Amino acid sequence: MTKQPYQKINLVIKDKIIEEVEAGLKILFNTAPSSRKRPDINISNSKNLSPKTKKNHAKLMRVNHSGEICAQALYRGQLFFNKDKNIEKSLKNAANEELDHLAWCEQRIDELGGKTSLLNPLLYFGSIGIGGIASIIDNKYNLGFLAETEKQVSSHLDSHIVKLSKEDIKTKKILEQMRSDECQHEISAKKLGAAELPKSIKKVMNFTSKIMTTITYKI
Ligand SMILES: [Fe+2]
Ligand SMILES: [Fe+2]
Repeated sequence: MTKQPYQKINLVIKDKIIEEVEAGLKILFNTAPSSRKRPDINISNSKNLSPKTKKNHAKLMRVNHSGEICAQALYRGQLFFNKDKNIEKSLKNAANEELDHLAWCEQRIDELGGKTSLLNPLLYFGSIGIGGIASIIDNKYNLGFLAETEKQVSSHLDSHIVKLSKEDIKTKKILEQMRSDECQHEISAKKLGAAELPKSIKKVMNFTSKIMTTITYKI
């Protein structure tokens, strides 16, 4: 029996959802691959890091790792309903760089003797929903949301860089490269036509990310 158009659309959406669940599980539970070399590759591990500093830095990197989990989900969500090829290309490029960030954070947490956040599955599936909704609304607001996220992540990374002990150059190098990439992602989104978001939305985003960073520092 020939399938009705709406049945075909339903099947496509179902396939896409299954694909997203598989991708999500892979991101959450597999070791993240990285295509670029680690920015701290030429720096040896400092022997002067005290256990207290290591613990604190592992927690800071756990926050950043969770941020990258959210970034993967947001990008995938934003690609879900997007039909614009230029935006797709730019989102995919940025998502690949975020995958490097994810891998670097994961490796550094391990070296510092820490653990990734227990909240990551919740954050991932929450963020993919937010990204999906943004992609339905309108391209310019989808990009605006992306540009604002990247801007807030850059300033968050700045705040972590100044908190680091001067001895831990490895973590600093990783965060500096991540910040530079996030700034670039913001610029790319703006070049593609990102709209400026209303102040109230920016405030909500900032508040939500503060809650997220406070909780993931702890668990
Ligand atoms: Fe990132
Ligand atoms: Fe980014």
